[in-house]
Amino acid sequence: MEKLKNVTVLDHPLIRHKIAILRSVKTHTKEFRELVEEITTLITYEAFKDVPTRSVEVQTPLEKCEQQMVVENSIAVVPVLRAGLGMVAGVHTLFPTAKVGHIGMYRNEETLEPQEYYCKLPDGIESKRVIVLDPMLATGGSACAAIELLKSKGCTDIRQMSIIAAPEGVEKLAKAHPDVKIFVACVDRCLNSNGYILPGLGDAGDRLFGTK
Ligand code: PRP
Ligand code: URA
Repeated sequence: MEKLKNVTVLDHPLIRHKIAILRSVKTHTKEFRELVEEITTLITYEAFKDVPTRSVEVQTPLEKCEQQMVVENSIAVVPVLRAGLGMVAGVHTLFPTAKVGHIGMYRNEETLEPQEYYCKLPDGIESKRVIVLDPMLATGGSACAAIELLKSKGCTDIRQMSIIAAPEGVEKLAKAHPDVKIFVACVDRCLNSNGYILPGLGDAGDRLFGTK
């Protein structure tokens, strides 16, 4: 994949270790769900590096000092249903006050085009930094559609957080929305003819919710 501005691929042995287990066909729902959450927390640490902070005065047992705390109410996460739901708790571990919006999107299995079926966003989302959560960035169609929807609601500060991406999807999203920073834990080899990521992990929604 060509080097793209605004794309951060988290390259860390702890993440690689967890992704290896996540991919395995032997990993069942409970462990899969826990891993999605843990990997998301690790990506959050990087993606929130420039989260807005404010100065506060703290009295230690010895003296007063000026410290920095994150600005609450500045962030909203928007999981793309269904699989994005599995990432919410991972963000909340580090940033418990993040508001949560939901966008329902599924891929038409023949055309691979995203179909929107649900949208409920927090009030005032347009003034927040919005992080779209979806573990899989395959063709990039769902991410692009979710981001277009958020932009149509007035959002201007949007990021995408995914666990596994295909080069095709990262390139499509980066070109369509150069203003959106993309954080992924891993970029895989390619898509297969059904739009699945190779080697990937299969269908993330089904593995998270045990539907197949
Ligand atoms: C998966 C995944 C993404 C989308 C990625 O969802 O969670 O939303 O596919 O593919 P794309 O980049 O080609 O658009 P899916 O449509 O399977 O719905 P589900 O989460 O309800 O299973
Ligand atoms: N959605 C998934 O859940 N997995 C893929 O490999 C592609 C899209």
